Amino acid sequence: MNLMDYLSARFRRAKDGLREAPLVPGDPLTGHLLRFREDAIGTLEDVASRGGEVVRAPFGPFLTFVISDPEHVQTVLVDRHRDFPKFQIGQRALEQILGGGLLTTDGPRWMRYRRTTQPSFHKRTIDSFDRDFVAAAEHVFHDGLEDVRIDVHEAMMKTALHAVSTTLLSADIAGKEAIVAESLDFILHITRERTLRPSLPRFIPTREHREFLEALERLDEIVYRIIAESRLAQEPSGLVASLSAAEDPETGEKLTTTELRDQLITLFLAGHETTASALSFSIHHLVSHPEIYQEMLEEIDGVLGDRVPTSEDLPKLDLTRRVIEEAMRLHPPAWMMSREVRKDTRLGEYFIPRGSVVIIPPYLMHRNPRFWDEPLRFDPSRFLPEARRSRPRYAYFPFGGGPRLCIGLGFALAEATLVLARVSQRYRFERPAHAEPLRLRTQITLRPESGMTMILRRRGEALEATESVREDGVASPE
Ligand code: HEM
Repeated sequence: MNLMDYLSARFRRAKDGLREAPLVPGDPLTGHLLRFREDAIGTLEDVASRGGEVVRAPFGPFLTFVISDPEHVQTVLVDRHRDFPKFQIGQRALEQILGGGLLTTDGPRWMRYRRTTQPSFHKRTIDSFDRDFVAAAEHVFHDGLEDVRIDVHEAMMKTALHAVSTTLLSADIAGKEAIVAESLDFILHITRERTLRPSLPRFIPTREHREFLEALERLDEIVYRIIAESRLAQEPSGLVASLSAAEDPETGEKLTTTELRDQLITLFLAGHETTASALSFSIHHLVSHPEIYQEMLEEIDGVLGDRVPTSEDLPKLDLTRRVIEEAMRLHPPAWMMSREVRKDTRLGEYFIPRGSVVIIPPYLMHRNPRFWDEPLRFDPSRFLPEARRSRPRYAYFPFGGGPRLCIGLGFALAEATLVLARVSQRYRFERPAHAEPLRLRTQITLRPESGMTMILRRRGEALEATESVREDGVASPE
């Protein structure tokens, strides 16, 4: 927003009799942007704490409003979502990877994709993935890992990648997991960098641009091969088949091969690191709270014994699920969302000019003492039905809300609960002596900065295994 826009916005505000949100000025040239690049969460915490429910703060060229009130979150995500489309700069950076998938499109094109893909995420379909989720857990946390030191986040990334590839793509990408994981990681890193600092135009062949394209090509090669194999299969299965056959209920149109590729890469990307982080942070909190850990293990033993969990067990694994929900409160994988302001509007008594940006950080809302007693305390009982009802709806929104609500919500909760239950039947995690304190990394998703080292201890006798044992190199002897 330039000076003329700013002056004209001030005039329009005065005309509407609205107030200006408290300003937290930053550096005269860059606002809070440089600090945000170094410490995104610390910067937002600081900015929000120096104002009220809506705070005005410059971030580079953008006049930005940081929101800390659940009603305003509901206004932005749900009630007046048309006035607050997704923030284009973030969208454009992601578009280079995802093309025109569900995450990166807006308006009628997004609506067509959402109508077409939504039925593939029906509860019945998700329930049918239970064996795949359990197999993914067994694939990584296989027998024979007792007393080894393990990077929990790396192991959960492998688990989630395995789960997402077998369910979405209906293909075992064995041997290619490292390629996919490294390519995705590199692509995400560059994408975040590009949204936060100016970069040379893409046609200039810098090393970074070349490596970015190569990583993308490696990923595309795998996805296009899977689409082709699925189209040739006698009995195609999995989400790739379901999306391939899906028709827009309004027009009967199907997705083209490129559109299908874009949706699959989107689901791949949106669905794997987020769930892995939810699981890693759950383990982090469990080992810090042995009584809750013990109670959860008792629930799992009581419901399952030695039996392999299925989707029918999900309602009975109540505490297990609440552990995951509470972990996502303190460490929401999608820690920040941003929207553009399409036209002059208001949030409560505050004027929000068109062209500005709204930041809605679940990370801050989930720790706001106005809605959470002792917000830093890990306490899964916050998700018992009565406690849930006592809070405003948007005091907790790890999956977003409104029409852009995460399409994979049911998938993620089922996967995380079944994986946590299956792993816990076999193993218990223990924090090694002199473990480094948890440090956070804020890429597009929130994750532990430098992994999460734990020791795996075997629980009870060997359990019924549903997949053969494989060495996968995530562990080393303790
Ligand atoms: C714990 C795990 C997950 C979390 C915390 C999470 C969180 C979110 C959030 C907050 C949004 C909304 C973003 C916004 O409004 O700006 C979103 C959107 C989305 N998520 Fe997830 N997600 C998770 C797992 C998954 C999974 C497993 C999948 C797919 C299998 C998935 C696919 C998507 C897609 C495609 C969108 C875009 C939907 C649209 O705009 O129509 N997510 N997710």
